[in-house]
Amino acid sequence: MQLLVLRSTDPDETRVAATPDSVGVLTGLGIDVSIEAGAGDRASHADAAYAQAGATIVAADATLDEVDVALTVTAPSATRLAQLPASCVLIGLLRPVHDLATPRQLAEQGVSALAMELIPRISRAQPMDALSSQAGIAGYRAVLVAANSLDKMFPLSMTAAGTIRPATVIVLGAGVAGLQAIATARRLGANVLANDVRAAAADEVASLGADFIHIPGVTEQTGDGGYAEVLGADLAAAQHAALRPHLAKANAVICTAQIPGRRAPVLLPAELVEEMPAGTIVIDLPAEDGGNCALTQLGSEVEHHGVRIIPAPQLARSMPHEASALYARNVANLVRLLVQDGQLHLDLDDDILAGALYVHDGEVVHRPTRDALSSALTSDHGSEGA
Ligand code: NAI
Repeated sequence: MQLLVLRSTDPDETRVAATPDSVGVLTGLGIDVSIEAGAGDRASHADAAYAQAGATIVAADATLDEVDVALTVTAPSATRLAQLPASCVLIGLLRPVHDLATPRQLAEQGVSALAMELIPRISRAQPMDALSSQAGIAGYRAVLVAANSLDKMFPLSMTAAGTIRPATVIVLGAGVAGLQAIATARRLGANVLANDVRAAAADEVASLGADFIHIPGVTEQTGDGGYAEVLGADLAAAQHAALRPHLAKANAVICTAQIPGRRAPVLLPAELVEEMPAGTIVIDLPAEDGGNCALTQLGSEVEHHGVRIIPAPQLARSMPHEASALYARNVANLVRLLVQDGQLHLDLDDDILAGALYVHDGEVVHRPTRDALSSALTSDHGSEGA
């Protein structure tokens, strides 16, 4: 089985899908591993380290005819994708529903793909859960960005010149990123409050030493797969009312609330931002999904009534070494499921592989992406007819 690690063609991508350690794991499975020259440069892994771990270094425009499995972090360029042979399986964070060009091209070429985002959130799949590994890093980093941007210290400081009160940090959404943000802000000495709509989150927040902000009327908003459900208008208004007095005293707000496949819930409408103290920093992680703050702009920081709103998508990219180490392990654990007697075997009776299957046999298997492609096609035809 021939496996190739692609060098990212996205100039903003810093991570790599294999490290010298994970190359060791892959070669141990009997796989021939090649890696495109320079693939690990931005994550501080030199070609020589990969070679020492047993990989063959190939040029970034090498022919790909023999490749059985190609590993990537984000989707390769259309040009590189066009070189993948039809028998190949591409594995990466392929942004189902958001990026429609990649699955369309993969289906046309007959290349199969497993999207790391689609791996089921079940216990057996935890070692492959790249969403969690990258979210944990993003949650940590978000607090550092806030601390760096804030003109106030996080911890309590008692000095001869007087006492500095600890910063108040509010974390919205207490999933993987939110819990890591809470833990990080607590370690820095901040007074932390958090909110979520899943009942289990209240205990998790309390176990990290933060206060949970309860929303009257919200007891359990958990739906399919343990994910949060969208709040109706009344409960959303109750949530804004519950957050209002706390936000009015906040120094930093870390936004992490998300519902897969949906626009991120708006937890900070403009009127709440206007009541926040001037100088407050808002870090909005789900900025690519619309953001938790109504004023968030994906490409640039916004200042509104003295509050700075910083979009922070893809924060894991700012720690490429650690993010790559975890991602590479997630991917290697998935590849382990694809090897049978040293050969590639895509066993669709395996619930992890079936769940992660994105494109196969010339079809986009993931229903929400297929629906999005159909709508895009319909609106293209509509605008041609107009
Ligand atoms: P996520 O990144 O999809 O969303 C972040 C958080 O936002 C979630 O906690 C969600 O409840 C919260 N949220 C959504 N709407 C909200 C609103 N209107 N107001 C406030 N908060 C809101 O979440 P993540 O980190 O992926 O975790 C989601 C679920 O998946 C949790 O139940 C978690 O325990 C579970 N999980 C399971 C794993 C496994 O079994 N392998 C691994 C990781 C998470």
